[in-house]
Amino acid sequence: MFNIAIIGAGNIATMHTTAYQKMKDVRIKTIVDVDVERAKIMAENVDCKATANIDEVLHDPEIEAVDICLPNFLHLETVMKAAEAGKHIICEKPAALTVEDAEKMFDICRKNNVVLYIAQVCRFMTAYQEIHHVLEEKDVGDPKLVRLSRSVHYPMLVGQEWYKDESKSGGLFLDFVIHDLDFIVWNFGKPEIISSQLISEEKLKGIIINLKVDGGPMITVNGVWTSIDQGGLHQRVEIDGTNGFVHYDNRNELPFVFKNTSGKSRMLSKETLCNDPFYRELRHFINCFRGTEQPLITDKEVIQTLETAIEAREIAREKGLNE
Ligand SMILES: NC(=O)c1ccc[n+]([C@@H]2O[C@H](COP(=O)([O-])OP(=O)(O)OC[C@H]3O[C@@H](n4cnc5c(N)ncnc54)[C@H](O)[C@@H]3O)[C@@H](O)[C@H]2O)c1
Repeated sequence: MFNIAIIGAGNIATMHTTAYQKMKDVRIKTIVDVDVERAKIMAENVDCKATANIDEVLHDPEIEAVDICLPNFLHLETVMKAAEAGKHIICEKPAALTVEDAEKMFDICRKNNVVLYIAQVCRFMTAYQEIHHVLEEKDVGDPKLVRLSRSVHYPMLVGQEWYKDESKSGGLFLDFVIHDLDFIVWNFGKPEIISSQLISEEKLKGIIINLKVDGGPMITVNGVWTSIDQGGLHQRVEIDGTNGFVHYDNRNELPFVFKNTSGKSRMLSKETLCNDPFYRELRHFINCFRGTEQPLITDKEVIQTLETAIEAREIAREKGLNE
């Protein structure tokens, strides 16, 4: 049995606990939250221990790994504590709020012979994996235009005020479009930013980033946090190449469509695409801890993704808000 502890019993931890509960070889031993009532509620569902004291987990020799589901500004200090206690680590995205902090996290893990995996979940979404496959096979020819877009209701559950404070969350660039930037790094390598703009109104935050990669496509990334409930996350990827296209829109009746000029095509329904990316992500990380799989995402890619998000934010800031 692989014993794990969850640190932070908020929104995303619910997804993680549900995923671990489906794994017969993994046991959530302890759930930690400063708000011990939250930890208790979650622990009751899982049938495990709840505590507000992280040291109980760090000093527990049975616990092999911790899964950090904390607000972004707490990732660095928690990873450092866990690494020094000799625990392997899964940590939610974004790794950290600066590149230096992320590098420090990987360094301390290496020094303590533990592994750190950053949960950049779009790598485990079937639609994104299918698009990756289409690109790898060159099934659309040379990709020339890439449009990535995501929007969601502003995070506003109880206790989530930290998202609004950019010094704690990193804002839209680091917290939200990090997924699209990860997709770019994964498929095309580190991009160059052409322009980046931010709209920041009381009830609407939005960004548009234009990027390019050497010898690769022109790319646009668009991210929106809005005060209006849109009925869940809306995400889109549209890639047009010299010989075909692949388009994904999670709101469409037929979300995934690929067609090319050689007559090849593939369409995937909502049902086919809906297969719990958090389970697939965490299963992969556990298998990596056990040495039966190799990590799908490298430390370098995590750093490059964060670097791109920070550069885009800097460029938008230099330009000034709402221009
Ligand atoms: N992959 C995804 O799609 C995705 C989606 C949402 C959130 N996330 C990431 O997950 C992480 C958590 O986000 P969330 O939405 O669950 O936040 P949340 O605010 O809902 O939950 C955070 C929890 O941490 C607890 N906490 C705060 N400080 C603590 C401390 N010092 N020690 C112990 N517990 C503490 C809070 O009480 C709260 O229960 C963030 O890094 C976020 O970016 C990822």
